[in-house]
This record gives sequence, structure tokens and C-alpha cells, in this order.
Amino acid sequence: MIWCVILLNVLSGFIICSADINKEKALRLMRETPLIDGHNDLPWQMRQLFNNELEKMDLNTLEKTHTNIPKIKAGRLSAQFWAAYVPCESQYKDAVMKTVEQIDVVHRLCHLYPNDLMFATSSDDILSAFKQNKTASLIGVEGGHSIDSSLGTLRMFYNLGVRYLTLTHSCNTPWADNWLVDTGKDTSENNGLSDFGKELIREMNRLGMLIDLAHVSEKVMNLVLELSIAPVIFSHSSAYEVCKSKRNVPDDVLKKVALKKGIVMVNFYNDYVTCQKTANLSNVADHFDHIKKVAGHEIIGFGGDYDGVSRVPEGLEDVSKYPDLVAELLRRGWTDTEVKAALGDNLLRVFREVEKVSMLTSCFSITKHCHYFIHYFSLLIFEVRDSMTAIKPYEVPIPYADVVNPCRTMYGYPPQDNAGSMISLGLHLLLLTLLLHGTILQLF
Ligand SMILES: *[C@@H]1O[C@H](CO)[C@@H](O)[C@H](O)[C@H]1NC(C)=O
Ligand SMILES: *[C@@H]1O[C@H](CO)[C@@H](O)[C@H](O)[C@H]1NC(C)=O
Ligand SMILES: [Zn+2]
Repeated sequence: MIWCVILLNVLSGFIICSADINKEKALRLMRETPLIDGHNDLPWQMRQLFNNELEKMDLNTLEKTHTNIPKIKAGRLSAQFWAAYVPCESQYKDAVMKTVEQIDVVHRLCHLYPNDLMFATSSDDILSAFKQNKTASLIGVEGGHSIDSSLGTLRMFYNLGVRYLTLTHSCNTPWADNWLVDTGKDTSENNGLSDFGKELIREMNRLGMLIDLAHVSEKVMNLVLELSIAPVIFSHSSAYEVCKSKRNVPDDVLKKVALKKGIVMVNFYNDYVTCQKTANLSNVADHFDHIKKVAGHEIIGFGGDYDGVSRVPEGLEDVSKYPDLVAELLRRGWTDTEVKAALGDNLLRVFREVEKVSMLTSCFSITKHCHYFIHYFSLLIFEVRDSMTAIKPYEVPIPYADVVNPCRTMYGYPPQDNAGSMISLGLHLLLLTLLLHGTILQLF
């Protein structure tokens, strides 16, 4: 009996001990490699709680949210794509303005907390923030409705620092179908992507903006995986085989993402983790294990969706808990390399590739640097030079018929076809009348 108790004590001691070892190792790996998370909705919380009046809150003490500065520090959150999100309800109304305001929130947060947040727009920025112990703050626009079918708006978003666009949120745009099409709650309007949607993919490649496939229909996932020159991301989606929600990524798509060297950043929302209202940290780790098994450790990342969802797993209550998940992966036998890949190496690889593609495709502003590129690559592949010089900003606007609504003016578009034909019909009638009149006059 007494031996049993001693044995039990020794055993539990061992378990606690190994848990400590994994956590310690997790923290060490997180000192060596930045943790980059693909999606956090803190800016939307700023809208909801404070109507974007940031002076009314203190990110050091804010308790209502999953995210605040002490939690960021405890969670070793080194880089975050903050979502500039506005609901689908704003589509065809004030989506662009409201999105610009969310972008402004991220800029202002960085100005308000300069010791903790660093505004970032590149893979190099992420590393430089990491060296300074600051959280690199990047912007992703969540939902194609935010650009109101305008590539000019997309380009200016890029200039404001936006580095990914999620092609849809939970509504169709005039050029892309969303995931609800796959659940039957919505109907396909674009057979995946319209021609304009395809041009948008090329334009994003040219700009060097990451293409985010979270929230899109499966058809769109597959089309973009074929079309895009650069690797793509899922900023906050989990594995469909583990939880059969259409917001998650099916195995065959995971494999294509791997071929394309892209990344799937795992969402922690209970409903996408277990397809139930409850979930725990271990259930999230199951998604990491599954994706690794099916498509390899090189496509995995973290995409917590904190402050964008109402239910998060037990053990992952807020952004301070990332190290516990990392420790769990180590406990499951993940190697240092695999863990570091998921932490940040994968996203950095994807981001660099996207930046490189953009450098190639936009290389005909005649700078020395670009000349070198063109020269070098035209030596390697004859066609590249021609395809590069062909790629200029895409200027053809979306067909007016695709975006007719009472809130949109038609400046710049030629008069509509039916209006035009009415005019020409009128002219013909007039001419005919004159002719007849003349003939009749001549007769008399
Ligand atoms: C960052 O933090 C680490 C450990 O907390 C510390 O050793 C290092 O000096 C800090 N670096 C800077 C630039 O503050
Ligand atoms: C997590 O939930 C699963 C059920 O989905 C359960 O089997 C498991 O024991 C739980 N793990 C922990 C650590 O609570
Ligand atoms: Zn989302």
C-alpha cells in the first residue's frame, strides 16, 4: 500500500516534471523563432467596445478581450496579422470607408504602444520587431467586399500597409463565392471566380499581397491554387477531416497547398475545432497532427482567430496560452524543426516568396535592380522577360453590369448598352421620318 502511494507520487512527479520540461523547451524555441499568428480581430473589438476611440481604453489593462499587452507578452506573440474586418452588411454601402477606419486603428495602436507594437509590412520587419522584443503588427483585410470590386482600392490598401486580402468573408462578392455556397445556405454567383476575380489574383501576385483563402468556397480554393504564381495562405482555417465544417480545409486541398508551398494557419474557434460548442487544447493539437500527417509540417501555422470568436478551447482561453500548445506539440513528439516551422518559419517562407514574385512581376520600372533581374531571368527562361513586361497594373474595371446597385455611380463607364441602343433607335427613327418626309415632299 505504502509502496503504491510512493510510486504514485513518483509517477505524478515525473508527469509534472516532463510537462515543465516541454513548457521550458517551448519557451526556448519561442525565443529563437518568432510566433506569427495569421488572424486576430482586436481591431474589431476596438470598434465594438469603443467605437474606435482608443483613448478610452488601455491595452495594458483591458480585460474584456482575448488580447492585451500582458497576455501578448506571456504568449510570446511575436507577430500578428490584425484583421481589418467589417461585416458583410456593409457591402455596397460603406465597406471601403469602414475598412479604412479599421486600418487606421492598427496604425494608431502602433503609435499608442510604441514599446510593444511595431508596425510591419514585410518579412524583414517581422524579424526586426522580433529582435526588439516587439510584436510585429501587420494588416490583413478580411473579406473581398472591403474593396468594393475596385483594384484601385486594393492597390491603395496595399499602400496603407495591407499585406493580405481574404477573398471573401461569409458573403459572395460580385467576383468570388464564399464558403456558405458549400453548405447550401448561399448560392454560387460566380462559379467560383468570375473573370474579374481571376484578374484580381494576378494583380495580388503582382503587388506582393498574400492571397487568403479562409472563408472561400472549395471551388475558389482550387481555382486560386491553380492560378496563383505565389503560394497562398489560409489565415484562420483548420482541418476538415478532423471537424467537418466547410470553413475548414479538406485533405486534397491540404495536399495542393503543400505542392504550392503555402500555409494553413489553424483556427482555434471551438466550432471549427470539434464542430461542437466545447473544445480543448488537445483537440486543437489534433488539427496540427492531422495536417502534418497529410501534408507535412511545412504548411502549418497558427491562426487563433482570437477576439473574432465567442468560444475558445479550454487551455487556450486567450493569447497568453500559445506556449502551452507548443508544449503539447513537443509532448506529442514534434521535433524542434517542426515546431519552429509552425511557429514562424513557414509563414516567413511564404511571405518571402510572395515578396519575390511581386519583385519579379513589377520589375519594369527601369531601375538598375530590376534590369538585373530581367536580364538574369531572361537568360534562364526565355519567356519570363516577356511575361514580366506584360504585367502592368490591371486597369480594366469590373463590368458595370456586375456591380449595378443604387449606391454606385457609373462615372467612367460608357453609357449602358440598353440606354445606347435606345438612343440609336431614336436616331434611326428620326432619320427614317426625315427621309420619308423628304420623299413625300418630293412627290408633291
Ligand atoms: C529582449 O528580451 C530578452 C529576454 O527577455 C532580453 O534578454 C533582451 O535583451 C531583450 N532585447 C531587447 C532589444 O530589448
Ligand atoms: C479534451 O477533450 C477530449 C474530448 O474531445 C477528451 O477526450 C480529452 O480528455 C480532453 N483533454 C483534456 C486535456 O482535457
Ligand atoms: Zn474569419
